[in-house]
Amino acid sequence: MELSDKQLAAEKAAEQVKDGMVLGIGSGSTVNYMLQKLAERIETEGIQIKGIPSSKKTEKLANELGISLTTFAEHHHIDLAIDGADEIDEHFQLAKGGGGSLVREKMVDSHADYFIVIAGADKLVKRLGAFPLPVEVIPFGWEVTEKKLQELGCQTTLRYQEEKPFVSDNGNYIIDCQFKSIEEPENVHKEIKALLGVVETGIFINMVNEVIISENGKIKVVKP
Ligand code: 5RP
Repeated sequence: MELSDKQLAAEKAAEQVKDGMVLGIGSGSTVNYMLQKLAERIETEGIQIKGIPSSKKTEKLANELGISLTTFAEHHHIDLAIDGADEIDEHFQLAKGGGGSLVREKMVDSHADYFIVIAGADKLVKRLGAFPLPVEVIPFGWEVTEKKLQELGCQTTLRYQEEKPFVSDNGNYIIDCQFKSIEEPENVHKEIKALLGVVETGIFINMVNEVIISENGKIKVVKP
């Protein structure tokens, strides 16, 4: 069976995991492929790692695959983080949070010595913004937080799942913000983050050390 671009990028990244590492594990379907490959390496090569998962879904899959996990309580330092993205712009700034795990992902990815993003080439964009930007907000007063977000020039949608507001692993809501385009990601992140009720935005600024992209079966490794 031919491997998808996501899978190829994910497997390439899994090869970079070394024995003894504390690994930050992102979330999403691309990361799931990485975990499967990592589980194979653990089985066949006997490498030992400890992972800090960035979502309950990732934690569940890692447990099912027999990958050892740890927490920030035990390890304040992550050697390598591997995560997917919803958009990667030409300056390596990211939009993330399509799966609703942006807060934990940002914590895990930003506490790593080295952060690798894995994706198919469909995630590469000139500018962020075509993908509605996920913003995690506290449920209390989300309606007024949403108004403040709209005043920044975006159209907003409270994310739903099974006819109820989607609740993140942190017990919060997600408001997806559709901007025309995000010209200055750092400023947009700062403006949103300054609003009362906002926990975090899905814009990841200056965090990436390496991007592994696969396009039509060809892998490209790019560094900022
Ligand atoms: C989840 C994320 C994911 O990394 C992003 O949505 C990419 O997902 P996928 O690998 O399934 O395309 O940010 O919050």
